[in-house]
Amino acid sequence: MTHTAHSGLTLPTIGLGTYNLRGMAGADAVAAALAGGYRLVDSAFNYENEAAVADGVRRSGVDRAEVLFTSKLAGRHHSSEPARTAIEESVLRTGLGHIDLLLIHWPNPSQGLYVEAWKALIDARERGLVRHIGVSNFLPEHLDALEEATGVLPVVNQIELHPYFPQEEALALHAEKGIITEAWSPIGRAGDLLSEGVITDVAAAHGITPTQAVLAWHAARGSLPLPKSANPRRQAENLAATAVTLTEDEVTAISSLGRPDGRLKGLDPAVYEEF
Ligand SMILES: NC(=O)c1ccc[n+]([C@@H]2O[C@H](COP(=O)([O-])OP(=O)(O)OC[C@H]3O[C@@H](n4cnc5c(N)ncnc54)[C@H](OP(=O)(O)O)[C@@H]3O)[C@@H](O)[C@H]2O)c1
Repeated sequence: MTHTAHSGLTLPTIGLGTYNLRGMAGADAVAAALAGGYRLVDSAFNYENEAAVADGVRRSGVDRAEVLFTSKLAGRHHSSEPARTAIEESVLRTGLGHIDLLLIHWPNPSQGLYVEAWKALIDARERGLVRHIGVSNFLPEHLDALEEATGVLPVVNQIELHPYFPQEEALALHAEKGIITEAWSPIGRAGDLLSEGVITDVAAAHGITPTQAVLAWHAARGSLPLPKSANPRRQAENLAATAVTLTEDEVTAISSLGRPDGRLKGLDPAVYEEF
């Protein structure tokens, strides 16, 4: 199974998160994940790991054309000229020839420059530096503003999404618009979530781990999780999970862990800004 965007872009059921995967060890972890079957990798200017993730892509032995390398434009680079240069620098830093998927990392609404940043992403796509463009942490009003100003909708919105914060409305809106929902912190950073009774019960019923139960919940609801793991054994565990089918009752039971203030660190894109 894959996810398909309004543009026809298809993405796999799972990708590799890479926050804190940096340097040689980070590159090794990315190379191991790709060799083990991952095809979509995340990264960001602000993770200071575009070079390491790209090195992992090159060293994985997987054909470059099969890999989807993601990066994100930082808040400090939203204005036209800084955005143009930052995107060029990101592409050059990777040495991959192009970035497959570039996202605006945060809308930073009070800065008021995300539409300008979006125009820079459109321009980078037209120049062949970037193949597909999307956003991260965008609320419905931010998506509307992009569409009104440019007529171009993102192919992806990467948002915080896990059982404590199931994002029912965002998922439905994205599905209606053909925007693929990528989930960050999909396993709740491997915290308390994984010992919730409802999750350990589902895991026991299927003979899988609690992490796999959470990732299967993502697959059932149509979100594309990006679990980060530096460990090849856990990478493989996570990759196998999206093939597990949960019952409707199990999905509902896990979703019932959701709460209005379920964000792990309270990072609400309406007010939180990152540069
Ligand atoms: N767009 C944004 O604003 C934004 C914000 C946050 C994150 N992200 C992206 O989303 C990715 C994922 O989010 P995240 O890193 O915050 O959290 P996460 O993927 O929910 O959790 C990562 C943690 O889970 C552990 N882990 C992974 N697989 C496991 C397993 N099978 N069993 C037990 N523990 C396991 C990892 O440790 P090991 O490495 O030791 O396995 C790591 O400590 C990030 O890496 C980043 O790429 C994006």
